[in-house]
Order: sequence, then C-alpha cells, then structure tokens
Amino acid sequence: MRRVLLHTMWVLLVQWLAVANVWSGPDRPTEFSNTNSVVNTRHNMTQRSKTGADLLSGPPNSGGAGQMDTSRNDYGQVCVYCHTPHGANATIAAPLWNRAIPTTTYTTYNLLGTGASQTYTQPGGSSLVCLSCHDGQQAVDAVMNMPGAGKYSSNPNFTFLETWQPTGFSTGSHLGLKSTECLVCHTPTGLGAIIAPTATDFTVFAIGTDLRDDHPVGVSYPSTSGTGTDWKTPGGAVAKPGGTTLFFDENGDGRLQKTEVRLYDTGQGAEVECGSCHDPHGVPSAGVGSGFLPSFLRKTNSASALCLTCHSK
Ligand code: HEC
Ligand code: HEC
Ligand code: HEC
Ligand code: HEC
Ligand code: HEC
Repeated sequence: MRRVLLHTMWVLLVQWLAVANVWSGPDRPTEFSNTNSVVNTRHNMTQRSKTGADLLSGPPNSGGAGQMDTSRNDYGQVCVYCHTPHGANATIAAPLWNRAIPTTTYTTYNLLGTGASQTYTQPGGSSLVCLSCHDGQQAVDAVMNMPGAGKYSSNPNFTFLETWQPTGFSTGSHLGLKSTECLVCHTPTGLGAIIAPTATDFTVFAIGTDLRDDHPVGVSYPSTSGTGTDWKTPGGAVAKPGGTTLFFDENGDGRLQKTEVRLYDTGQGAEVECGSCHDPHGVPSAGVGSGFLPSFLRKTNSASALCLTCHSK
C-alpha cells in the first residue's frame, strides 16, 4: 500500500516536472511590444502578472495582481521607479534621480584579458544608476520619493516602502534582482521552473557586485586613438556639469543624440559606463514608432557595429 502511494506520488511529480519543463527554458521573448516608449519595455515596473486561469495565456498588464504584486509596490507610474519631479537625489550626476545609490565597493574587471592597459576605477554615476537595481542590493521599488504627499525617505527601507498603501492594496515583500529574491521565480531551473514556469529567465540580467564578468565600466578611454591604434576617435564633445562627455558623432551634427555611443567624465576623464552602450528608455531601430533595439542598446550590434564603434579590431 505504502509502495503504491509512493509510486503514485512519484508519477505525479514526474508529470508535474514534465509540464513545468514545457514552460521553462531559455529567456522567453518579452511580452512587451518594445516600441514607442519606455512604457512598453521591461523597464516598466508597473507590469502585472496574470492570475488564475489566464496565468499562462493572457496578455501582460491584464490586471491580475498575482505574483508580481507580492514582489514590489505597483506605484502605477512608470518613471517614478527611476525619476522624481521633486526630492531627487542630488548627490549623483543623473537627472532627477529617485533612488539611493549603493555604497558597495564593486569588484572591478581584473584584466583577465592580455593587453588591458587602461585605468580601472569604481563605476561612475552613469553605471551606478543602473546598478542601483541590477546589482540586486536594493529592491526595485526602493525609491526615495513615492507617489503621494509625505512619502519621502532619503534612505528607503522595507518599513518605509510598506507605508505606501492605496486602498485595497497590500504588499509584504520588496524584492531585488538577485538569486534569493526576484530570481527565485525568474530562473528556468529549480524552484523557478516549478512555481513560476512562465517567468522570464533573468539570470544574466542580475549583474551583481562582481563586475569581472562584465564589459569594463568605470574604465578610462585611451587618449591615443585613431589610425594605427586599437581605438576609434570620438569626434564629438559636449560640456556637462561633471565634465566633458565625448561621443561618436555619427551624423556629424555636433550634437549628442541617444543613438550615439558616448564616454562620460565625472572628474576622472572620459570613461566607459553602462550608459555608453545602453539607453534605459529604449532607442528606435529606425524611424518613429518602430521596434526598439534589443537590450536597450543605443545602436545595433549587428555585425558587432556597437563594439567596432570604439574598438579597431
Ligand atoms: C512569485 C513569482 C515571481 C516573482 C517573485 C517575481 N515575478 Fe516577475 N513574473 C512572474 C511571472 C509568472 C511572469 C510571467 C508573465 C506573467 O505571468 O504576466 C513575470 C513577468 C515579469 C516581467 C515581464 C517579462 C516580460 O518581458 O514579459 C518582468 C519585467 C518581471 N516579471 C519583473 C520582476 C521583478 C523585477 C521581480 C522582483 C521585484 C519579479 N518579477 C518577481 C513571476 C514572478
Ligand atoms: C529604469 C530606469 C528609468 C526609467 C523607468 C525612466 N528613466 Fe529616464 N533616465 C534614466 C537614466 C539612467 C537616465 C540618465 C541617462 C544617462 O546618463 O545618459 C535618464 C535620463 C532621462 C532624461 C534626460 C535625457 C536623457 O535621455 O538622458 C529624461 C528627460 C528622462 N530620463 C525622462 C524619463 C521619463 C519621462 C520617464 C518615464 C516615462 C523615464 N525617464 C523613465 C532611467 C530611467
Ligand atoms: C528601477 C530598477 C532598474 C533600473 C534603475 C535599471 N534597470 Fe534595467 N531592468 C530592470 C528590471 C526589473 C528589468 C527586467 C528584468 C530583466 O529583464 O532583468 C531590467 C531589464 C534590463 C535589460 C534587459 C532588457 C530586455 O529587453 O531584455 C537591460 C539591457 C537593462 N535592464 C539595462 C539597464 C541599464 C543599462 C540601466 C541603467 C542605464 C538600467 N537597466 C537601469 C530594472 C532596472
Ligand atoms: C561596451 C558596451 C556595454 C556596456 C559598457 C554595458 N553593456 Fe550591457 N549589454 C551590451 C550588449 C552588446 C548587450 C547585448 C548582449 C546580447 O547579445 O544579448 C548587453 C546586454 C545587457 C543586459 C541583458 C542581458 C544580456 O546579457 O543580454 C543587461 C541587463 C545589461 N546589458 C546591463 C548592463 C549594465 C547594468 C551595465 C553597466 C554595469 C552594462 N550593461 C554595460 C553592451 C554593454
Ligand atoms: C564605448 C566604447 C566601447 C565599446 C562600445 C566597447 N568597448 Fe570594449 N572596451 C572599451 C575600453 C575603453 C576597454 C578597456 C581597454 C583596456 O583596458 O585596455 C574595453 C575593454 C574590452 C575588452 C577587454 C580587453 C582586455 O584586454 O582585457 C574586451 C574583450 C572588449 N572590450 C570587447 C568589447 C566588445 C565585444 C564590445 C561590443 C559588445 C565592446 N568591447 C564595446 C571600450 C569599448
């Protein structure tokens, strides 16, 4: 009797895992359209998962509170997870920034390659803004100025975040992009495959605090470039509050466009940061209303065009 029961449980478990495996696997294509606005991208943190019957089939933002509402406050505003009109973080060179900046010391790219020659420092402002979510140290909803009066904290924490409660709304958890938090569901293997088989795989997107496996950021751009060197010359320059931003002026108009790769200067000379290659709002691939370039890239990396903007290889 006991053996039969055990056998039945085993069969059920195998079937369950088999079903789960149908839905797991590599990064699912996004359910967002990735057109027109940051609103239609994965940087829209108000997105909802589905509940009940339409968990596996309905469109995103279909209204069910479900799994996502136990993970972060849904402020109902897209920009507020990153920007605020008032009470912004003035200690970082980022526009109207609504997040505290991690004080973590990052493990920088450690010259795994042969010939790395540049100066490697801690990530600059235009990387720290991204790392304020992507290093997993802070919850994605940990903003300094939440919507509504009297909802400000220069150092957002769990207790503070719990004070944001519109009528009928309750949360209990404020998760970040790391293995023990959002990634419990957003991994294609293990528990994630079982409890949230439709959740996208975020493993690579959780950058962490060890940056040795990432393209260097906070690294100076060689001052000697052009013919005969390994480096292209950024032709454009524009003065910013922190220093001079150099950029590859592809259309030669002398102005910095979102489609142009740039090098930020926050007092240590021209450096590569996350924002050199990425625009967190999305960049149209061609013309207005067309699809954004994948991975929020500033320019297409087809035929490695992005890499070859800086590197002469
Ligand atoms: C309890 C499981 C669970 C947790 C925890 C969770 N999610 Fe999700 N999430 C899902 C599921 C399931 C989906 C799949 C789509 C759906 O059902 O709408 C999803 C979809 C998403 C999407 C849309 C992906 C796309 O492009 O279509 C984003 C973005 C997202 N989650 C972000 C997060 C973030 C950020 C966290 C942590 C704050 C988080 N999730 C925590 C279950 C979870
Ligand atoms: C995921 C975070 C994030 C979200 C969401 C976001 N932004 Fe930004 N935004 C940034 C970052 C980071 C920068 C700085 C970019 C840089 O340093 O080059 C920025 C820069 C800007 C700028 C300055 C010009 C520029 O493009 O550099 C404006 C204006 C702006 N954002 C408006 C908005 C508005 C309006 C929304 C909502 C519809 C929004 N942003 C949503 C992260 C975000
Ligand atoms: C408010 C938190 C937050 C900030 C700030 C933020 N991100 Fe994200 N980012 C997310 C979440 C959540 C996702 C969706 C989960 C995922 O795909 O990892 C995401 C996804 C991405 C993706 C994958 C997009 C796709 O369609 O596959 C890229 C690339 C990215 N972010 C780059 C950046 C860069 C570069 C910055 C800084 C300029 C930045 N992010 C700032 C939270 C943030
Ligand atoms: C030198 C250019 C460059 C820099 C600097 C850079 N990235 Fe990326 N990033 C890329 C490219 C190219 C991709 C697309 C990879 C692919 O083909 O999927 C990407 C992809 C991503 C993704 C999606 C995951 C993936 O592997 O597809 C995330 C998230 C991301 N970057 C975040 C960041 C953050 C955060 C920083 C700063 C710490 C950063 N990036 C710095 C070029 C860059
Ligand atoms: C914005 C300019 C820029 C872009 C775009 C860029 N890189 Fe780099 N890359 C650099 C700089 C600067 C360094 C540091 C070089 C050094 O220390 O010698 C670097 C370092 C590297 C290294 C390590 C070199 C070593 O000796 O350890 C590799 C590999 C690399 N880049 C590949 C790529 C690839 C692949 C792409 C496209 C996905 C890319 N880069 C895009 C500027 C850029």
